[in-house]
Amino acid sequence: MRGDLERVLFDEPAIHRRLDEIAAQISNDYRERELTVIAVLHGSLMFVADLLRRIPLPLKLECLTVASYHGKAQTSGEVVLRELAPDVAGRDILILDDILDSGHTVAAVRERLETAKPHSIRVCVLLSKKKQRARQVDANYVGFEIEDEFVVGYGLDFRERYRNLPYIGVLRKELLEQSDK
Ligand code: IMP
Ligand code: MG
Repeated sequence: MRGDLERVLFDEPAIHRRLDEIAAQISNDYRERELTVIAVLHGSLMFVADLLRRIPLPLKLECLTVASYHGKAQTSGEVVLRELAPDVAGRDILILDDILDSGHTVAAVRERLETAKPHSIRVCVLLSKKKQRARQVDANYVGFEIEDEFVVGYGLDFRERYRNLPYIGVLRKELLEQSDK
């Protein structure tokens, strides 16, 4: 799988060092409160598991599955939440997602949760692409800013593959352009 990458952006130690920093920040910001984490699956799986183990606060975890990509390298704009949103009334919510690209996914999840009248909502993403977004999203915690390139690994997939790579890298362009299968 390493051969399918153009280059590695963040290796395992670099990811873990950054998680230490974000976890410390979140732990400090929420020290008097009980956090409800909303993980947007599947992409955030590794990120959520590694980040939450670094936050020594009482917290609840809910997972949402979102469909928007349809196997292509760009977002359709139509975001479908596969489950009913959890009851988050009066709670302090932290949305965790793998990457901010067009912004459609996080904006849709946030909008849906807002209807349940939580006390607060913040957003934490591992990666944020430097680009003009279709939807404006303010992330409160960002692991790394990256260029507008297609990345895989550490939970991020291309057609459901590469999620198990322990590092994050840029997928070779010719693989992105190949037809399905
Ligand atoms: P957005 O709705 O366009 O912001 O993108 C949301 C979802 O698209 C992310 O949660 C990822 O699952 C997927 N995505 C966006 N960019 C990439 C990428 O570079 N690699 C892998 N998945 C991506
Ligand atoms: Mg995906």
